[in-house]
Amino acid sequence: MSEVRQIKIFDTTLRDGEQSPGCSMNKAEKLELAQALVDLGVDIIEAGFPIASPDDFDAVREIASVVRGSTVCGLARCNEQDIDRAWDALKLAKQARIHVFLATSAIHREFKLKMTREEIVARAVAGVKRAVGYCDDVEFSPEDAARTESDFLCEVVEAAIAAGATTINIPDTVGYATPTHMGNVIRNLKNRVPNIDKATISIHCHNDLGLAVANSLAAVEAGAGQIECTMNGIGERAGNCSLEEVVMALRTRFDYYQVTTGVHTKRLVPTSRLLQNITGMQVQRNKAIVGRNAFAHEAGIHQDGMLKERSTYEIMRPEDVGLTKTDLVLGKHSGRAALADRAKALGYQLTGEQLQAVFEKFKRLCDKKKEVYDADIAAIIELELHGLPEVEVWTMSGYKLTAAAGQTPSVALSLCRGKEIVTKEVAVGDGPFDALFLAIEQITGIEVTCRDFSVHSVTVGKDAQGEVTVEVEHGGQLYRGRGVSTDSVEASALAFLNAINRVAATAGRPKDRVSPHEANAAATTAAAPNAETTKT
Ligand code: KIV
Ligand code: ZN
Repeated sequence: MSEVRQIKIFDTTLRDGEQSPGCSMNKAEKLELAQALVDLGVDIIEAGFPIASPDDFDAVREIASVVRGSTVCGLARCNEQDIDRAWDALKLAKQARIHVFLATSAIHREFKLKMTREEIVARAVAGVKRAVGYCDDVEFSPEDAARTESDFLCEVVEAAIAAGATTINIPDTVGYATPTHMGNVIRNLKNRVPNIDKATISIHCHNDLGLAVANSLAAVEAGAGQIECTMNGIGERAGNCSLEEVVMALRTRFDYYQVTTGVHTKRLVPTSRLLQNITGMQVQRNKAIVGRNAFAHEAGIHQDGMLKERSTYEIMRPEDVGLTKTDLVLGKHSGRAALADRAKALGYQLTGEQLQAVFEKFKRLCDKKKEVYDADIAAIIELELHGLPEVEVWTMSGYKLTAAAGQTPSVALSLCRGKEIVTKEVAVGDGPFDALFLAIEQITGIEVTCRDFSVHSVTVGKDAQGEVTVEVEHGGQLYRGRGVSTDSVEASALAFLNAINRVAATAGRPKDRVSPHEANAAATTAAAPNAETTKT
């Protein structure tokens, strides 16, 4: 019987994922997510790109010194300064990895790097050697590998392994590959690179054609031993390979792939929720595995089949991904023990203090709502655990809204900052939400442009809690906010205020940083005087 391979899961939510618009996180949030990723069972956490900004450096250093149980990785271009900086951030990690990358495709060589093939090989070898001087665990990525000529890709990979790289990552940087193509790229490396057995082959797919998960699976089938992915599939443009999808595909189709991962799949939904709450970026309802509808059977024929035998229409059990499905509804007669029990079943481990705070909110909700569902409880817990205390510069004290058909709505709003309470009355013509948002802007002195505003109910029924998410733009950056209340006007105000608080807490910070792709072009220019300053 052939041995079951264990595929390494390399999570890059904190690096490639965090780079995507509206997904930036502060150090405390990154640390919290890193801990959750350890609990999820990922093998490697790519914690950031230390040279990109002082904030990135600090976050990687903090994660490296605190987090135990997964390897902590930092990204670097193939130059001394980057690699030294990456090591400086990583050196306190129990298990550290340096990830160096350099573009290899003809398009990147000619237009971005202005380097010959020989220069690329020499730079890759020098970068890997420098990293190996610091740590044994070195990953090399030929950026845009999926569009690199196969002979040249084999040459670079062979040289990188000979220089000491222990993992060779194959990025489909622009999401161009298809599954058959990607399988062939990996097979080609396995067949033609003589020292390929000395390294683990990794796959890193972007989702521009919606194929990132399919391409990663094809790579595994062809022999890849590591998958690079992000929670909820966040990442540049259309995102990266979604961790929850690829892990559940391998698990559900073990019959076909015959491989395992070390991921504790029951932690998938809680980790996904944590990320949604930290970034304010909600997944779509029909998102596979973690979307609200992922396990909802609506059609009568399906429901009938499910009642007779679950496997007729269900290929995975909701509880296996951390979704507890229960008909038991909590209400005002439910006690703290029942709430604690339900919280545990939903995947949350609350301290006594947290449970008390959640219980008080739960009781207040029971006064407004007869039946309290799992989603209500999860929403309360999430707000309690990840209510972003660090960014709560302003809190809402109260509001009075006057609106009637044909009349200009007006609002009197009070916000608190520390001990200070500021009240403002405004009347504007574009509806009650406009009036509320304007009042918030006037009190806080932060002006934003609202880019997205959506309201949906957390559960069912007329008394359901409304969940509002907003996306605002300020100084060229996107910020998200979320609010939950049985009163949808209040939920909207809370969401808008949450976004404004993020602006107040982080404005200016993301601007200091460079993305790996921009940085790559800039560093190449600095290192090679003849190269042009072309940026990707
Ligand atoms: O997509 C990509 O090429 C990358 C590399 C830095 C690995 O993210
Ligand atoms: Zn990438």
